[in-house]
Amino acid sequence: MVSAARIMERCAALARHSEQPGGLTRVFLSPENRAANELVLGWMRDAGMRAAVDAIGNVVGRYESEHAGAPCLMLGSHLDTVRDAGRYDGMLGVISAIECVHALHGQRRRLPFALEVVGFGDEEGVRFGTTMLGSRAIAGALDPASLEARDGNGLTVKEALRQFGLDPSRVRDVARRKGDVAAYAELHIEQGPVLEAEGVPVGVVTAINGFSRLRATLTGQAGHAGTVPMGLRRDALAAAAECVLALERIAKSDAELVGTVGRIEAKPGAINVIPGEVQFTIDIRAPRDELRQRAVTEVATRIAQIARARNVGCTLETLQELGVAKCAPWLMRQFERAIAAEGIRVRRLPSGAGHDGMAMKTLTDIAMLFVRCKGGISHNPAESITEADAGVGANTLLRFIEDFELPA
Ligand code: GLV
Ligand code: MN
Ligand code: MN
Repeated sequence: MVSAARIMERCAALARHSEQPGGLTRVFLSPENRAANELVLGWMRDAGMRAAVDAIGNVVGRYESEHAGAPCLMLGSHLDTVRDAGRYDGMLGVISAIECVHALHGQRRRLPFALEVVGFGDEEGVRFGTTMLGSRAIAGALDPASLEARDGNGLTVKEALRQFGLDPSRVRDVARRKGDVAAYAELHIEQGPVLEAEGVPVGVVTAINGFSRLRATLTGQAGHAGTVPMGLRRDALAAAAECVLALERIAKSDAELVGTVGRIEAKPGAINVIPGEVQFTIDIRAPRDELRQRAVTEVATRIAQIARARNVGCTLETLQELGVAKCAPWLMRQFERAIAAEGIRVRRLPSGAGHDGMAMKTLTDIAMLFVRCKGGISHNPAESITEADAGVGANTLLRFIEDFELPA
């Protein structure tokens, strides 16, 4: 049996490692990330696993099979957060997986395959703009150029790894061989309202929507807010405002599309100065890759037109693109079997949020189990689940693990 109370306590314990008091922000390779890793390493060892931090900063625990060196079923989620985050997005999946291993270890039970639990260091991509560095490294899909991405202080991933005590030249050793990982399965909060509306505590994910992340820079002319007449200005922020609304219009043109400007910075940033340069991020998602790619092209065209009409310079960089990641039917069936065995109606649903499975898919087949959350709220301190649902989620995951079978 798993302990739902311990899962909730551990989510609360991890939430205390935050860069700001009274809230939760924990970015990749930060001091708070180190403290969270230490906590998770201790829990993994307590659950009977060998555990260590790998060269990209993932916490990895292994519970050996009854046949030493057998391929593993990999479980996990991420330990980094967005800014002002909730305490379950990512962490619930890591803690629940450890809890399942704890239950097996308590019965001194070994399985015909090994179990590995990974607490990925970077899924949200908040610090460096590019996401899933940890899972891409394990999947062998990390472009070395990603290690040159810079944070807001100009520090590269490589430099941050060194400061964290890791050796960037070892990152490529983190990659697993195909065949060593039989499958990747992740438990995660739903982050949407479907399961709550349907009155079911868990659901099986069918696919993860693809996303494109871009950064736009508009360059106008800084000047005096009192002296330059309106008709003679090259205001980069006014141009950006038009771009934000253009993105919203394009995203609203199809019910399957979503588009967001989540971060914007105007320079020099003074009340009496016309903004000379503006940078903003763009996040576009869809369940169909061609729809998303069409939207990206349309947004790029509109931004270029707006910049031209306002006589401001414009550059658009693609930070990351990940296509739709379908979950494997053979794994979905096994999650469905586990859900039904727990006496719960099986509900399938897609994921609008991104997950490490998108990267893991290049290595192995993936599946996800969603746990109901309150009001569909996430990426927000109000993110909330019940202890009972945490228990149902972990018990369903445990049953899935215990009954796990490779396809014939
Ligand atoms: C991660 O939560 C993402 O979907 O951006
Ligand atoms: Mn998230
Ligand atoms: Mn997440």
